[in-house]
Order: sequence, then C-alpha cells, then structure tokens
Amino acid sequence: MIREKAIKILCLYERTGELKNILDKFSKRLKVNDKALLRELVLGVVRYKRLLDYILEQISGKKISSQKLEVRNALRLIAYQFLFTNIPPYAIMNETLNALKRFVKQRKSIGFVNAVGRKISKLVEEKKIFDLLENEKDPFERICIKESFPTWMAKRWKNFYLDKILDLGKEGNTEEEKILNGTQKFLNSLNQDAPLWLRVNRLKIVPEAFERMLIDANISYEKHEFIPDIYKITQKGIDIYNLPGYKEGLFYIQDPASYLAVKLLDPKPGEKILDLCAAPGGKTLSIAHMTGNNAQIYAVDINAKKILKLEENLKKYGATNVKVLKLDITKDYGELENMEFDKILIDAPCSGTGVIRRHPEGKWNKSLELIEKLQGVQRKLLQRAYKLLKPGGRLLYTVCSLEKEEGEENNDIALKHMGYKEASFGEIVEPLKEDIKKNTLRTFPFKYDLDGFFYAIYTK
Ligand SMILES: C[S@@+](CC[C@H](N)C(=O)[O-])C[C@H]1O[C@@H](n2cnc3c(N)ncnc32)[C@H](O)[C@@H]1O
Repeated sequence: MIREKAIKILCLYERTGELKNILDKFSKRLKVNDKALLRELVLGVVRYKRLLDYILEQISGKKISSQKLEVRNALRLIAYQFLFTNIPPYAIMNETLNALKRFVKQRKSIGFVNAVGRKISKLVEEKKIFDLLENEKDPFERICIKESFPTWMAKRWKNFYLDKILDLGKEGNTEEEKILNGTQKFLNSLNQDAPLWLRVNRLKIVPEAFERMLIDANISYEKHEFIPDIYKITQKGIDIYNLPGYKEGLFYIQDPASYLAVKLLDPKPGEKILDLCAAPGGKTLSIAHMTGNNAQIYAVDINAKKILKLEENLKKYGATNVKVLKLDITKDYGELENMEFDKILIDAPCSGTGVIRRHPEGKWNKSLELIEKLQGVQRKLLQRAYKLLKPGGRLLYTVCSLEKEEGEENNDIALKHMGYKEASFGEIVEPLKEDIKKNTLRTFPFKYDLDGFFYAIYTK
C-alpha cells in the first residue's frame, strides 16, 4: 500500500511540480510508521533522482525518460530502496512490483522492472553498484551524480565557497583532490535529513514545564548547544502532530537558523517592529515570544492565503499586539506610509537553496533566471523598507539561500546605493563569530547542523 502511494505521489510530483502538499494529503490517516516510511521513500527518491536515474540507465541501457511515468517511478523506488534502506530484497521487489501492477498491466513492462531490480540487487549485494559511476570520466561530474545535484548548482557553490570547500576537503593531497572532497562533503550535508527542532513557546509555557512534559511523555530531546529555547527531538518515528502540546501551541516547529534571524534583530519590549514578509508567521511569533507580547508588531504579507495561516498561528500561539496587513510592499505602503519602526525584519522570498535538505525538490526546480528574478524582488523590498526605518533603528535582512545574488550582492547594493549603514550583530554566540563578515553572517548545514541562511544587519 505504501509503495502504491509512493508511486502515485512521485507521478503527481512529476506532472505538477508539487510535492509537500501531495505527500501531506496522502499521509493523512496513515499510522506513524507507515507515514514515516512513505516520507522517507518519496523524499529519498526525489533527493537522489539524478543518481538513481544514472544507475537505472547504466543498468538497463535505456533512457529513463523513455519509460512510462509509473514504470520509471517504480524503477526509481526500487533503486532507492536497494541503495539507501535496509529493507530486505524480497520485500523491495514484491511490494514494489505488486504496487506497479495496479498501474501497469503489460507483462513486458513488469518483466523489465523485475529484471532491472534484480540486477541492482545483485550489484548492491556485491558492493559494486557505485562502480557504475566510473563510467563518468569527469570527476566533478561524478560527484554531482553521486550526491545527486545539478552540476550548475554545485559548480556555483564550489566557486563561491572555495575557502570553505578547501577546508572541508583538507585531507586531500592536491588542491584538486581537496576541492573534490570538499564539494562532496558540502553536497552531502544538503542530503541529510534535517533534525526536528522545536522552539518552546514562552507565551504559553516556561521551558522547565515544557521539558517536564516531554519527559513525562517519554520523548527524548536535546537542548540546542548555543541557541536558547530550541530543542531537538532525538526520538525517531515521532508524529509531530501527536506530540504533547502541539494542539495547544506550546511549541513551534522552527529551525534554529530561522529563530536566529530574530535573535539577531534583537527585538525589545516597547519597540515598534515591522515584519515585512511575515506569513505564515514563524518569525513574527518569535518576535512576540522574545518580547513577551510587549512590542507593537506589524506583520505584512502579500499573499492572502498565507495571511490566513498567519492569523491562525497568532491565535494558536497566543501572540497579541500584532497588526496584520495584506500589502505588496514593493508597490504600496498602505497605512505604513507615514510610520517609522525601531526594528524591521525582511525575511525575503528566495530560492530556498539553504533548505534543500528539507525540500529536496528544490534541487530540480531552480534556475539562474529564477535567482535573478528573486534578486530583483529582494532589492525592491530592501529599497522600499528604508523609508520605514527610524534613524538609529535596526533592519535585519535574511534569506534561506546559499546564493551570493540573494545575499552578499544584495548587501553590497544596500550599502552602496540605498542609504543603509552597516550595523553590528552585537552580542552573538561564540561558535558563530568566525562566520561573521562585517555586517553579514551565513549558516550552513555542515556546521552545527543549521539550515543555510544569510543575514545582514543595517542601521540608518
Ligand atoms: C520566506 S517567506 C516568509 C516566512 C515567514 N517570515 C516565517 O518565518 O514564517 C517570504 C514571504 O514573503 C511574502 N512576500 C513575497 N513578496 C512580497 C511583497 N512584495 N510584499 C510582502 N510580502 C511578500 C511571501 O508571500 C512569503 O510569505
């Protein structure tokens, strides 16, 4: 049943480009273990699509694109299970072939999938499956196939983050080896499943009581090493929606790098604070949490549907003193026209390459054109926000992107042409200090297991 759902979701994803919503829809009413298996299979196939397709084409001698949609996704599913799970071979083959039979009636197709599956099984058992990669002669290309990333994406990161890549790959003997090792580690860190992080919601519960609640429910957790109020749920197979306190809004699911954006903004009780790209509200809620509902918050977003979610979240998590406005701030200041704010947060729409470990479909739906288009929106947001910042106030610009166009290049323009002045992050946790460059900071999954964010802090 799970393989059938997986094939269905993968086919729908290929047709529509939509993944998370479809997965959520098909996961409803499943038992915890089934839900976890379905998620692993679907996200795993999407994450490793390039590698799986390469292996399948090498073994079958046929282009994967020439296969019927259901057949090619069943093939990917079989390859993923053999390469990345401990599911016994007979279960992989039986379950997946039976599922495929619900979509495809031709014996020839089933026989073909069966034959390819058996070859993969044999090569995996003999530990020879990755030898197939030797057919790719270019070593950089080989790494991109192995870690399953588009080459253009990996090449940009290799060039832009060369220092970090060389450091990651430092055990290599030559510069080329260091670059190859480092790139592989960099890409690999974006393939790891992100931990489940929760921010305790101090508007509803004190951390001690929250910890007691987790202990009483036998849920194992760790406190974040250096970011307060953030907890990692270390127990596997947890259904988030059934965690104690979920319905009551006692915690919010949030990566520490997202929470860090608000810590760096440093909101204080009594201040007037603008969250310019607020929905669905992760950071608005963090501002309310940090100021104990004692700041005057304006939360703006362009998207009506997402604003509904934001409003629902404000209610659920007990955030008050928040005025929600639907505005396209690049065109219209609305009632903000004559206002000035002590603090402004711009969590701009972006390519999301820093959260690819959570959204593996992000590997396949990005392009340089998209990044450039987003850069235009981000610059407009920065430029329009300037007027709303009080002299001496602080503005934090952030994106969950690894691209220099959305980070460093925008920072240069903001400082050179928009009137912003560099500010300092102030008191910042020790481990992150070495990654600060003037008024900017970056986080990476390979360092402290954080999502990949860019932050820039300004004053006026
Ligand atoms: C990265 S998301 C924000 C996430 C949110 N801050 C959080 O932590 O939950 C970017 C948001 O910007 C909004 N947005 C895009 N263009 C906008 C514009 N011109 N004016 C206001 N909001 C915009 C999008 O609708 C989207 O909700």
